[in-house]
Amino acid sequence: MDKFEFIATSTFGLESVVKREIIDLGFENIKTSDGAISFTSNISAVPKANIWLRSADRVLVVIGRFKAETFEELFENTKALPWSDWIPKNGNFTVSGKSVKSKLFSIPDCQSIVEKAVVESLKKKYNVNWFEKNGAKYKIQVSILKDTAILTLDTTGPSLNKRGYRQSSVTAPLKETLAHALIALSFWKKDRILLDPVCGSGTIPIETALKAKNIAPGILRKFVSENWDIIPQKLWKEERKNAYGKIDVNLKLEIYASDIDSKAIENAKHNASLAGVDDCIYFKVQPFEEIKLMDDYGICICNPPYAERIGTINEIEKLYRQMGNKFNKNKTWSVYVITSCEEFEKLYGRKADKKRKLFNGNIKTDYYQFFGTRP
Ligand SMILES: C[S@@+](CC[C@H](N)C(=O)[O-])C[C@H]1O[C@@H](n2cnc3c(N)ncnc32)[C@H](O)[C@@H]1O
Repeated sequence: MDKFEFIATSTFGLESVVKREIIDLGFENIKTSDGAISFTSNISAVPKANIWLRSADRVLVVIGRFKAETFEELFENTKALPWSDWIPKNGNFTVSGKSVKSKLFSIPDCQSIVEKAVVESLKKKYNVNWFEKNGAKYKIQVSILKDTAILTLDTTGPSLNKRGYRQSSVTAPLKETLAHALIALSFWKKDRILLDPVCGSGTIPIETALKAKNIAPGILRKFVSENWDIIPQKLWKEERKNAYGKIDVNLKLEIYASDIDSKAIENAKHNASLAGVDDCIYFKVQPFEEIKLMDDYGICICNPPYAERIGTINEIEKLYRQMGNKFNKNKTWSVYVITSCEEFEKLYGRKADKKRKLFNGNIKTDYYQFFGTRP
């Protein structure tokens, strides 16, 4: 089978998590750059990567890569690429673009040149002058970095964080892909208790349960490339069947999720049931200060309110102090908190063992990590 180059895109800061996932899926020739992890595989990577990647945003297939310092170079090199291998006569294609530190900096011009070049290439191949564009969707992207153009097709469609289970959410829910990364960056293991005491719509507990039970995050949803002729339908069917077969249905988990807001807990329960993990998460309406740490060696991973988003400063500072008071008394617990509050360690009353810069949407945050003693 032919080999292709793919790019899994990720939020800035999550590249190492996505790279680990790509290694675990068995792909080869992995290279990492800012927000992009490239790898090679045959076409079966499209269903596999889309259905299984937990922290990537989307999966692109690279159609070509070349030097482009002039519009002519961009046009001729784009035209020479094998577009008709991918896009059928009635393919509904669009072009988006970006350019960084390059001579060709006008994005609208680059987009329109790429579109013209693709049209010319397809016209020649299909021997037609007019395309109806009423078939499957193809999103071409031209990205020019330091005068090198990469032409890709998006195989994903709506971003991979849209798993399909989050029908209801609270204010400021975490992206599912980031929630998974918080778990992957922690010391949590299947046999440890997980607590999210400010769970909102339940994203962290649900992603934990999906990961632990080996439920593929994309198992419930569709991808734009499922309508592409180049990918045999049987590859999608086989990957889904394989994914269903890999679910650990008998795994017992201890995941506790609570929130002060009863509406949030109602939403979280509903989402967990859609995700098929409501049997292993214990939900409760409970203000943080009433939480009792019954067992030792638990792991708390949470996304409390930040000033920019919800709650008043006083309420938020009080909550951060309460968190420190509770967890600092039990040295066996490990606590992981994502927040944009720069005063967090001061309010929590302890310096983090590790901090990692992450973006939650456009908000710059830190992922504060307080390690408990080992069991
Ligand atoms: C940023 S949201 C969490 C979003 C969640 N990670 C998600 O993906 O939906 C913060 C949550 O903290 C809850 N909260 C605020 N103060 C609280 C307190 N004192 N005790 C428990 N929950 C609290 C809010 O009700 C809100 O749902």
